[in-house]
Amino acid sequence: MPLAATGELVARAAARHGAVAAFNVITLEHIEAVVAAAETAGTPVILQVSENAVRFHGGRLAPLAAAAVRSAEPSTVPVALHLDHVKSGDLLRRAADCGFSSVMYDAAHLPYAENVAATRDAAAWAHAAGLWLEAELGEVGGKDGRGPLAAHAPGARTEPAEARRFVTETGVDALAVAIGSSHAMTSRDARLDHDLLGALHEALDVPLVLHGSSGVPDDELRRAVAGGITKVNIGTALNIAMTAAVRAHLAGDERTVDPRSYLAAGRRAVTEAAGRLLPTIAAARVG
Ligand code: G3H
Ligand code: ZN
Repeated sequence: MPLAATGELVARAAARHGAVAAFNVITLEHIEAVVAAAETAGTPVILQVSENAVRFHGGRLAPLAAAAVRSAEPSTVPVALHLDHVKSGDLLRRAADCGFSSVMYDAAHLPYAENVAATRDAAAWAHAAGLWLEAELGEVGGKDGRGPLAAHAPGARTEPAEARRFVTETGVDALAVAIGSSHAMTSRDARLDHDLLGALHEALDVPLVLHGSSGVPDDELRRAVAGGITKVNIGTALNIAMTAAVRAHLAGDERTVDPRSYLAAGRRAVTEAAGRLLPTIAAARVG
């Protein structure tokens, strides 16, 4: 099936009061594993490539993007391609040529007025290029190896009235909100502020995105989707699964030299991890 558009997958998920999972992919094995998991689950999925992953590939976007496009095309379920946590204007401008239908432009670290100005420019450019643009207000902590923000630290929670103003002033298509999750958690014990999510859902008419979802346990994910989250970003959970499987495989056979043996184990573990999360995230709201 041809590549799907992120905006359409999110809109469809919103219409049935569910969400779409967006998995961060770093290697070809991540891509293959996530597509396989989505096919087995029978759910649409978003493959997302972060600016950090592009840096890992020597600043080149096209090779991994091409792998994602080529892996998505024969898929039996809709697959969209999203460029994630972009701070570089140059990288933003390369998205449209590589198969991406959407970008998350991340200026959340900037003071409000600067975030608005930078995001407004990014959204104007994206829309002219036919791309759907997600931005962030309030800051989901744990980025780039930094620790989680304390709950009452400035920006640690997205304020609904400010978020409403931000969406109007920037014209973004979706908003990543800070409601208690944090990036790169290796334990699944984050507790979300569901009252705040309710207020944000009430105040905004754009889809809401949950970042740092690896640390959010299933019951909290379900409540978040029921409460209005329509895109759920997951990265670390896949890497935990892949690394543990590779480590176990290598420890079990110290003579292995063929990378296919441990990469296959890692890929299988990613498929299983994504497969466990997909039904929870896709779930439609009950009642
Ligand atoms: O944008 C990517 C996500 O927010 C991933 O966060 O690695 O903590 O799951 P995570
Ligand atoms: Zn994120």
